[in-house]
Amino acid sequence: MGMEDFWEQLPTGKEDKPLLFEMGPLEYDFHDIDGLYFMLDRRLSGCLLMMWAKPMNPDIQGTVTLDSRVVSGCINQYMEVMGNMWVLGIPLRGLVTEYGREYQLHVEGFVDMDGNEMNPQDFTVRGVEKVKPKPEDAAHEQIALEAAREGIVLLKNEAEVLPLKKGTVLNLFGRGIHEFRIGAVGAGKINPRYSVNFVEAAREGEAYSLNEELVEFYGCDRDEIPGDEMLMRAKNLSDTAIVFLTRAAGENQDASTAKGEYYLSEDEEALIAKITDTFAKTIVILNVGYPIDVTFAEKYAVAGLIYSGFGGMLAGPALLDILSGAVNPSGKLPDTWAKDYFDIPSSKNFYDCVDKTRLTADENIYVDTCYEEDIYVGYRYFTTFRKKAAYPFGYGLSYTEFCIRQENIRFDGEVLELDVYVKNVGEKAGKEVVQVYVGKPESELEQPEKELVFFEKTKELLPGEEQKISVHVPVKVLTSYSEEKAAYILSKGYYRIYVGNSIEAAECGGFDEEETRIIKQVTNLLCCDCKFTRLSKTNPDDTWPTGAHSGVVKNKLTFLPYEKRKHYPAKFDVEKPKEKVTFDAVRKNPSRAAEFVAQMSPEELARISVCASAGWGMEGIGEAGRVFQTEGYDLPDFPVSDGNSGVNLNIKNIGMPSGVTICASFNKELSEAIGCVIGEEAKALGMPLVLAPAFNIHRNPLNGRQPEYFSEDPYLSGVMAGFYAKGLEGAGVGGCYKHFIGNNCESSRKRNQSLISERAIREIYFRTFEYAMDVHMPASFMTAYNAVNGCPTAADEELLQGLLREENGFAGFVMTDWTTYDSVDVAAMVQAGNCWITPGSNDDTYTGQIKKGLENGTIDTARLQENVTALIRTMAKFS
Ligand code: BGC
Repeated sequence: MGMEDFWEQLPTGKEDKPLLFEMGPLEYDFHDIDGLYFMLDRRLSGCLLMMWAKPMNPDIQGTVTLDSRVVSGCINQYMEVMGNMWVLGIPLRGLVTEYGREYQLHVEGFVDMDGNEMNPQDFTVRGVEKVKPKPEDAAHEQIALEAAREGIVLLKNEAEVLPLKKGTVLNLFGRGIHEFRIGAVGAGKINPRYSVNFVEAAREGEAYSLNEELVEFYGCDRDEIPGDEMLMRAKNLSDTAIVFLTRAAGENQDASTAKGEYYLSEDEEALIAKITDTFAKTIVILNVGYPIDVTFAEKYAVAGLIYSGFGGMLAGPALLDILSGAVNPSGKLPDTWAKDYFDIPSSKNFYDCVDKTRLTADENIYVDTCYEEDIYVGYRYFTTFRKKAAYPFGYGLSYTEFCIRQENIRFDGEVLELDVYVKNVGEKAGKEVVQVYVGKPESELEQPEKELVFFEKTKELLPGEEQKISVHVPVKVLTSYSEEKAAYILSKGYYRIYVGNSIEAAECGGFDEEETRIIKQVTNLLCCDCKFTRLSKTNPDDTWPTGAHSGVVKNKLTFLPYEKRKHYPAKFDVEKPKEKVTFDAVRKNPSRAAEFVAQMSPEELARISVCASAGWGMEGIGEAGRVFQTEGYDLPDFPVSDGNSGVNLNIKNIGMPSGVTICASFNKELSEAIGCVIGEEAKALGMPLVLAPAFNIHRNPLNGRQPEYFSEDPYLSGVMAGFYAKGLEGAGVGGCYKHFIGNNCESSRKRNQSLISERAIREIYFRTFEYAMDVHMPASFMTAYNAVNGCPTAADEELLQGLLREENGFAGFVMTDWTTYDSVDVAAMVQAGNCWITPGSNDDTYTGQIKKGLENGTIDTARLQENVTALIRTMAKFS
């Protein structure tokens, strides 16, 4: 039966009883913790989704049982999923836990809007089939395992509670046992061939056994406290308890300061209080997508604290290896973990829905976000303003001790060099991360106390072994941005050098600069007319962010008129060739791309500038977009998919940790290897370009995409992302730096305006992309949904032509983020230099707007030709 016939034969009449039906096989994947629909409504996390044939009465809750066990908390609602329909979300997390096993689902008592009660219905739900690792994938999966291991950060280890002794019985607590998250939701989602959660890893490994009674108890999917008898039985098995805290995060929605999000829920806190009271040793695992309140660790004297992040397909075994000491932890925090959310200076200027409506990404509401904290993002604030953090940037413990010393600091005006020696002075082998910070003189500008200018991870050092790290910092990294001079300057004065293994690195010398020098003269771009106070250490009381200019902007219906930007004339002057230039010829010689494009009519140029993907991510293999096959040209098939941590398709493949966990490894070579694996898998799946890495700055921990992005520090984030892209493109697959720029929240992201000073753009938000470009120039860039200083980034000529191309030499192609045209004018985006309007359509909706722009002069033909040339050149390189 075809789909249409199927819909037609559904009973929808007034007298018909409601019918529940499945949209596909009733298979429940208990590794895919949040599922596909969490993005649309977070209450659907962990639910099996079924459809009703008729509108239902949401106030009448029927009964659902699984193998006679009552399933509570079903979501009976209207939803825009695969068309608009009434769905029943059945939370099965913790209940379906066995591979391939059949469970009987019984549903009764639901009533439709016409007052008809359903006939009881029975279904068979099957646990997902177990997939065995294949030998041919072993090399790639080994990198996934190493990435997960190296991204785990040990935050607390009182009295050496860790590693755990062999033979310990593991008492696991918290719903996080079954809600063990391995990836973000949305674009950063992974679809791994298989994955191994912690419980499975512990069962399969030989080192430990599990207290299975507790594992079963937490099938309730709540942070309940077991009864005293169960607790006593557990305590008799072992005096060690492991509590899992978990938080979902990803695209489409930001987190909030509600309990259960940034702060602990009451249940979580009560559980930790009870467990620490009962057991001599409590270890807490932070299986979270963003930094949360961790003050409980001191309050309840938790002995061990581990930030496992989202570790990808092999997150379970990796965590077990750290607990057992088979692997010595070497991850470091890519972000400051504050003692309290409101210690973070951006907290006043971040839409927090704790007492307001949670805004989704597509909300038709305009929001302003003033970056009053200015350059004081993350540790730049905490160190300069002497604010104590719970755990500082760059911090992470090891099971061994390292001694770090440096020699020979020298600066020749171009490069800062020093030699650092790292010696393992403890008893276990391990890796350490050398971090070099600089404190700049304030002769011209006020400066943060310290800024990261170099990091390097050692090899695995055996006890007693020493490694020399040669530190090399180009002068560019030492500059600050002077708005007054419109230049990157090296201020005169004394530069303090700090070397260590976290932001708490000790001062160890420095060098003097006699004169202030302009290192790079530019022009101020993306200027902001908006007057808001910028946090300054010279007057912290009067400049502390107030949030007075941020929030929902009443009565605003559009970004128009866009702030005026400088015009950069297009330079396309290639004549139509006399003889046909084929795409194949361009492939052989990409410098012929312009000739190829010169053959195209305005209609054809418009057509290829619009991506041709209707079913974006949901249908078929799930690619995000595809270049339109313009007739008469031998264009190759050119699909693109998301992929920070894998190839985001409906076809199973590798599952790497999420971006922040990759970053926490502080291991550049590993980041490159991860990119390379993803590239090789993408290639095998026919994807010439992957929309990654995404590495917007972690301005605020509540950003929904925190796990996808890398760090609060532009240098760490840019370098790690650059190495990732190097690996990806080394495998022959194009990458995409996104989202360019100032895309630091999900709440109403298409109608959000970031107001940022030029200095903060140049030292923080753009700088991370600049550092990444210094490591590797990618095939493409993706603009962001938001506006920056009055102009949507997708339509900002100064951003794309000025900053990106002219000033930084980017020659690849630029695409919009998906459906940016919902809030930004298509012609303006093309004229600014956006080469690909995504996800587009196969009809004339968007090509029509480009043609109109050409006719009325808002788009120069030469700009359109330049745009398409960049696209074709990249296609030639990567197809
Ligand atoms: C995301 C992008 C992603 C695109 C295509 C958008 O919603 O913001 O990061 O690449 O979708 O899936």
